[in-house]
Amino acid sequence: MKALITGASSGIGREIAIYLSELGFDLILASRNKEELEKLGESLKTKVKIIVIDLASEKGAKDLYMLVKNEEIDLLVNNAGFGLYGDYRSVSLPAELEMIELNVKAVHILTRMFLKDMTSRNNGYILNVASSAGLLRGGPLMSTYYATKSYVTSYTLAISEELRRNKSKVKVFAFCPGPVDTNFNKVAGVKFNISSISARKAARYAIDSMIKGKKVVIVPGFKIKMGLFFSRFVSIKKMLKITYNIQRRKK
Ligand SMILES: NC(=O)c1ccc[n+]([C@@H]2O[C@H](COP(=O)([O-])OP(=O)(O)OC[C@H]3O[C@@H](n4cnc5c(N)ncnc54)[C@H](OP(=O)(O)O)[C@@H]3O)[C@@H](O)[C@H]2O)c1
Repeated sequence: MKALITGASSGIGREIAIYLSELGFDLILASRNKEELEKLGESLKTKVKIIVIDLASEKGAKDLYMLVKNEEIDLLVNNAGFGLYGDYRSVSLPAELEMIELNVKAVHILTRMFLKDMTSRNNGYILNVASSAGLLRGGPLMSTYYATKSYVTSYTLAISEELRRNKSKVKVFAFCPGPVDTNFNKVAGVKFNISSISARKAARYAIDSMIKGKKVVIVPGFKIKMGLFFSRFVSIKKMLKITYNIQRRKK
């Protein structure tokens, strides 16, 4: 079995790579940091190929597909992504557009291109790393990030139903963790005020749940599950206030 993981040089992607290798997967690891990818590759027991690539462009995502299209990928993990903290006036437009390129467009392009191959052979899994942020209705002070993750969850859910209706054996999943202890905070410029789970725990939960295949949306951790459950009974206006207050404390 073979898996392609984007954003494998750090955090959740790195831990997913380690776990999948333990499960016997050969791996293709893609991100920008060659040194970290090589270090990780050398530490794993299964076959590893490294692709150093910037995925924050349509070209990057399409190039990655072209580089691996002849390999039979059983599992695609669309994990590369980042967030930015700040009110809409303080975050730069080019940085937001870069986030949309990576978190939305690259995920969309790679999902579409691999789905075509997977559905034609009626076999394969796609795990899109979204966020619990994607299950809420707006995230003040991280507005663009929340919106990108809403796109990923919404798109993945819709595709999963189309596949189910077509009786396809191909499956897609949206992984929606709350805070995870990775480089994410440093890149986004935030400090989490609620406890985070380890990247190792998040990664293992995601893969185990995907293998069980019971739920399209995978949420690790009791607290986050409860928070998301109760958010359904709160008005949008109230929820935006609550989210704003949680986000404000992250600074
Ligand atoms: N940490 C959290 O609290 C949390 C919660 C929910 C969801 N998530 C999601 O989990 C995913 C992984 O994030 P993480 O928490 O593991 O953060 P991380 O430790 O910062 O890892 C992000 C990964 O994305 C890669 N990446 C960033 N920009 C890229 C680009 N332009 N092209 C290719 N790869 C790029 C990075 O690799 P290079 O720098 O080598 O390119 C790195 O491997 C993200 O989609 C994030 O939104 C995180």
